[in-house]
Amino acid sequence: MRILGIETSCDETAAAIVTRDSEGMPQILSQNVLSQFEDHREFGGVVPEIAARAHLTALDHLIKKTMADAELSFDNIDAVAATTGPGLVGGLIVGMMTAKAIAATNNIPFLAINHLEGHALTARLTDSVEYPYLLLLVSGGHTQILSVNGLGDYQRMATTIDDALGEAFDKTAKLLGLPIPGGPNVELAAKEGDAKRFQFPQPLRGKDTLNMSFSGLKTAVRQKAESLAPLSKQDIADICASFQSAVSAVLVNRCKRAMAEFLVKNPTSAPVLVAAGGVAANQKIRFDLETLCTNENWEFVAPPLALCSDNAPMIAWAGLERAERGETSPMDTAPRSRWPLDETTASIIGSGRRGAKA
Ligand code: KG4
Ligand code: ZN
Repeated sequence: MRILGIETSCDETAAAIVTRDSEGMPQILSQNVLSQFEDHREFGGVVPEIAARAHLTALDHLIKKTMADAELSFDNIDAVAATTGPGLVGGLIVGMMTAKAIAATNNIPFLAINHLEGHALTARLTDSVEYPYLLLLVSGGHTQILSVNGLGDYQRMATTIDDALGEAFDKTAKLLGLPIPGGPNVELAAKEGDAKRFQFPQPLRGKDTLNMSFSGLKTAVRQKAESLAPLSKQDIADICASFQSAVSAVLVNRCKRAMAEFLVKNPTSAPVLVAAGGVAANQKIRFDLETLCTNENWEFVAPPLALCSDNAPMIAWAGLERAERGETSPMDTAPRSRWPLDETTASIIGSGRRGAKA
């Protein structure tokens, strides 16, 4: 099967084709991504209307190029998958309607994909990780620990109760005067910084919960920045390094406890922790989680950097897993700005508040 995947949920327009090779190994035949950072830079964040228009302008060409790169025509495509939530509705509509049009005109199935499922399954595309595994999903709109039991079977074990981690990175960047994209720029500044200069809080640490909280940390960063103003380049670097260090300690602490819980339910000699989502591109976080896993005798898998942030191979891959199960989605599918992976758990008031990003 060859699946065309389309991603337009936030500020990346992306298309890709995935398949399995003759041995059944996942293969990306082509992929293209166009980032809208420049369109949004002067506003200091993603503007939904600008995002939707930029997707509309770019998507057709991007799909054409993706087909040409793989030397394929629509006759050779078995299904078309598009992100239909969660995300910015304008962008979702652009990607979804394009996918439906391709499906209808070529008489192939359409598949509506949850963006978070794309992130959650990326490690199966890149590293053929087997179900079940423990997932740390850290993106611009979500911060969760989930037990990925099978395709479509996700159990949320922990969530942020306020800001998502990517959001905390972005807000920290903004208040320090660093440009968007915030997360990568905080990481870059932190490379020159002293992580031990400031002791930022690690909210909820030591409490009897796996949940996380990052808004207090953000406030502590703001107060520190205000007390030091005007900030030197070194102050900014030290704040970034200390912030990153506090964040990473929280993640390691929660993952360690979640790993123990996961093993009780899934006794196995080869447990795997997967990190996914844009923040999983952060080298400090990757290094600390890798160290945790080495110490605990777990395998640690994090996709290559380009497949941590928003991309289309992950959507095409989720589509392929669903198509292999014989699934299709109805043509009257509507986009969903909110679409939790685990619909059985209650949503926590305030978590993923931005709702705009996935
Ligand atoms: O998964 P993603 O690309 O989009 C969403 O689905 O939200 O995640 C984007 C988030 C942004 O908040 C961005 O600042 C953050 O991931 N991010 C990072 C890094 N790269 C992206 N945060 C920390 N360090 C990074 N290297
Ligand atoms: Zn994402």
